[in-house]
Amino acid sequence: RTIFVLNGPNLNALGKREPGIYGGKTLADIEADCIRLGTELGLAVECRQSNHEGTLVDWLHEAGDRAVGVALNAGAYTHTSIALHDAMRAIAVPVVEVHISNVHAREEFRHTSMIAPAAKGVICGFGPYSYLLALHALDNLTR
Ligand code: DQA
Repeated sequence: RTIFVLNGPNLNALGKREPGIYGGKTLADIEADCIRLGTELGLAVECRQSNHEGTLVDWLHEAGDRAVGVALNAGAYTHTSIALHDAMRAIAVPVVEVHISNVHAREEFRHTSMIAPAAKGVICGFGPYSYLLALHALDNLTR
């Protein structure tokens, strides 16, 4: 079972980006944790990051062909992207929306997710552990 862990804009800067909100782990640290948990669960975890909306759309389409599920932290595109919403609806595999921070406890503009209606479920607020919770959810959905 292949799972894609997709990260959107600015998440390549984790570790140095607003560590008070996002913590000190780098994206490489988080991806290594995801791959390790995947091995334990019997999931082949493929991790990618892009700052470009269309690239994330392409990867969602690819996931529809090659993966059984997706953990997606779309970063700020969460709050703006109908294209990601449509791509999530265009594929048959479950997408779990992931956020490191509790977006509902932050600025008003982060309270709306354009992608949540197209997600299987949403996990937010648990720091980098949010990704591991998403993998557990996807394991449970696809076993
Ligand atoms: C985020 C929350 C978003 O509002 C923000 O734009 C991000 C990261 C999170 O993981 O908490 O880039 O998705």
